[in-house]
Amino acid sequence: MSGRFTECQRELRASPKVWLITGVAGFIGSNLLEWLLDNRQVVIGIDNYATGSAENLADVRDAVGPGCWKNFTFIEGDIRDLQTCRDVVRGVDHVLHHAALDSTTGSIKDPLGCHDVNVKGFLNMMLASRDEGVSSFTYAASSACYGDYQDEAKREDRIGSPMCPSAVTKLVNELYADFFTRNYQFRPIGLRYFSVFGPRQSPREAERNVIPQWIRAMLSGGRVTIQGDGESSRDFCYVGNVIEANVLAALASERAKGSVYNVGVGTGTSFNELFDYLRFELSALTRDYSLSPKYTFYHAGDHHHAEYADISKAQKFLGYGPQFDLRSGLSAVASWFVHENSGI
Ligand SMILES: NC(=O)c1ccc[n+]([C@@H]2O[C@H](COP(=O)([O-])OP(=O)(O)OC[C@H]3O[C@@H](n4cnc5c(N)ncnc54)[C@H](O)[C@@H]3O)[C@@H](O)[C@H]2O)c1
Repeated sequence: MSGRFTECQRELRASPKVWLITGVAGFIGSNLLEWLLDNRQVVIGIDNYATGSAENLADVRDAVGPGCWKNFTFIEGDIRDLQTCRDVVRGVDHVLHHAALDSTTGSIKDPLGCHDVNVKGFLNMMLASRDEGVSSFTYAASSACYGDYQDEAKREDRIGSPMCPSAVTKLVNELYADFFTRNYQFRPIGLRYFSVFGPRQSPREAERNVIPQWIRAMLSGGRVTIQGDGESSRDFCYVGNVIEANVLAALASERAKGSVYNVGVGTGTSFNELFDYLRFELSALTRDYSLSPKYTFYHAGDHHHAEYADISKAQKFLGYGPQFDLRSGLSAVASWFVHENSGI
């Protein structure tokens, strides 16, 4: 864990703040909520349950207990409505904007629906937050903006062309954030997440959420499906590191604001390696899993590529130092799925 993160945690516990999480009922939003409540913060959350769920919130309630849960206010609402955004941001110190429709295939089928939430909703939240004078605005950007950029190491200042409409919207967010920084003295921080995984992640989307998909398949004795030859690689990043990055971004210096940062672990892992690691974790927790994976074609909008995040900018300006490497993250998530989802 980075020293700066420990410092921020201490500071926040001594002087609690009011936070707004958009997309609070989703995977990352609900993990942010749990950490903030555990650390005695006051949290407002908004979600329209497009892809998130009331079960995620109930899970957080059970984890944090009634003493912390009473510091949370949930608003069922839609960020496509500007007045709703103005209402929820009133009195807030730190905004963590995570509401989005982020499915590759979904956005290819319905680019307009994706644009409405990811661009109009984003702009609504930035305008409302700027006018409210919040202390910080941190938003979920994406490694998808690297698109077809070829080099394996992804650095913030070199991107390619986005490969699907949701990636286009994430890039548009960055352009708007940059405009706000230069013109309104409002300095958002964008966190370009790589492949995040952890508790409460939905197995819904095949091409991205491979870890919950595979765990589900392995636990039910089914076969795992790998796109391509399995030699594509990703920077799989445990959600605990994403929480750290958000807290560091919210409390960042003015100099560090108004910019984008990669958030990953800093190493690439192939899907074949990931399969072996997961099989090892689950075999240790339950029973031996011996089925080999099935290989298929890539889905639309996905392609063979190798990537990992160069995290030196986040290390230097935010004090980011990922506390979970891939193996410790996989061990944590495997235990969570085995214990919490034992019914699957
Ligand atoms: N999970 C990853 O690997 C990853 C990678 C890169 C970027 N991101 C970004 O991180 C953020 C969170 O991703 P996630 O994986 O938790 O996804 P998620 O789908 O679990 O969470 C998104 C949440 O936003 C809510 N939402 C959608 N439209 C809304 C609207 N109009 N009004 C209010 N709420 C709305 C959904 O109901 C859901 O709860 C997203 O912005 C996503 O693009 C995630």
